[in-house]
Amino acid sequence: MVIFEETLVTDTDFNKWDHDHSWHPFTQMEEYLQCPQIQVDRGEGCWLWDIDGNRYLDTNASIWTNVHGHNDKDINEAIKNQLDKVAHSTYLGLSHTAGSELAHRLIPLAPSNLNRVFFSDNGSNAVEIALKLSFQYWQLVGQPEKKYAVSMEGGYHGDTFGAMSVSKNETFHGRFNNWCFPSFSFQAPNCIEVNGKVINENSSESLKALETLLKKESANIACLIMEPWIQGAAGMKLQPKGFLKKVADLCNVHNVHLILDEVFVGFGRTGNFFVCNEENVEPDFLCLAKGLTAGYIPMAATLTSEKIYQKFLGTFESFRAFFHGHTFTGNPLACAVALKNIEKLEHLIDHGHLSETIYQFGSLLEKFSGKHPNVREIRQRGLAAAIDLCPDKNKNENFPVSDRIGLKVCIEARKQGLLMRPLCDTLLIVPPLIINEEEMKYLFSNCVKAIDGVLK
Ligand SMILES: Cc1ncc(COP(=O)(O)O)c(C=O)c1O
Repeated sequence: MVIFEETLVTDTDFNKWDHDHSWHPFTQMEEYLQCPQIQVDRGEGCWLWDIDGNRYLDTNASIWTNVHGHNDKDINEAIKNQLDKVAHSTYLGLSHTAGSELAHRLIPLAPSNLNRVFFSDNGSNAVEIALKLSFQYWQLVGQPEKKYAVSMEGGYHGDTFGAMSVSKNETFHGRFNNWCFPSFSFQAPNCIEVNGKVINENSSESLKALETLLKKESANIACLIMEPWIQGAAGMKLQPKGFLKKVADLCNVHNVHLILDEVFVGFGRTGNFFVCNEENVEPDFLCLAKGLTAGYIPMAATLTSEKIYQKFLGTFESFRAFFHGHTFTGNPLACAVALKNIEKLEHLIDHGHLSETIYQFGSLLEKFSGKHPNVREIRQRGLAAAIDLCPDKNKNENFPVSDRIGLKVCIEARKQGLLMRPLCDTLLIVPPLIINEEEMKYLFSNCVKAIDGVLK
């Protein structure tokens, strides 16, 4: 309970206010209202506490955003310092010191062809901006027929209309197909990997399909967008290492922009700042959000090349300017957080802490859940893992959707001190990057207890 406006407020009050008025994202509210409620009250490191003082490990890093833990004193201090200067000042036709410094710090981390950053405030917008920049670029260079996008099956790029048009997830977006613009798609490759060991992979059919499409249609194609290495919202579907480079080469040969959506994988999730650097790929656009501000404040960025930027220059009346922006574009508080985040993440990477954590994460995942009778498959790269649940008698069978097994396991997991979010019957484990070995043991052992609690 807390003191609020000099009155004692209990979790019953908060729950009632929530029940009476809130509408939560990606949530069947009828189901939500029947589930036991949690009111998160505070956080520290990888942990969140509810209003009754119960402690939970944040196993999804508050939707894949948290890097250095909650309530990090350095980041808190960076926000407070910026707050004492200015909380917000527009980025439309005006700059501020925090934004200039962030642009200066961000660019050297990215592939060397990327020299310009366009800030916004969430991952979907970072994608919208990349798509619109690509479409406008081809108009500006006299090739307006290059107006289609290509994306990879299973991809998820956000929930705005442009992002939905290039996402390939029927459950999330099928209902809105009538209002989305047409785009091409190609099949995703297969890859099952845990702890650096490849169990199974195949990318040849995917690459062949892409090559055939580009050979036939590249005169009409502006850009290809994909989540490199991991399709998170598809259930941590992996791509074999080296696949990205081959896709980039095909885009290059066929004169198609490559948009890399690193909203999820960027900022340390797979062990380095960006996946594109790992494969020596120079995309035309790099979309960043989530980890950019370490799970603190909404912010996104779309990076692009000087070559693309230059085509937008001209007199005002040439109307080449990019008419796009958001009220909180480049918010100074968010910039201050991102700057501190970068400084701290460089330390984590350079001192080998992150690679050690990733190794322990893969080993413990394998040890605790690899042979469980209700686990069909585990996939993991970096600090991102998926555990597919199945009935123990027949691993090829699925639970009936209405059984809501994944959700039940996550509700059970709360009793074991874990906050988890399922994707149907797949458990997605994406902890803050600073998670330690003891916390990972707690995570995986209690995750198994939650699975057993529901399925044994
Ligand atoms: C790869 C990817 N792109 C884009 C988005 C959309 O980001 P946001 O929810 O900030 O709009 C997400 C969100 O999960 C994502 O995983």
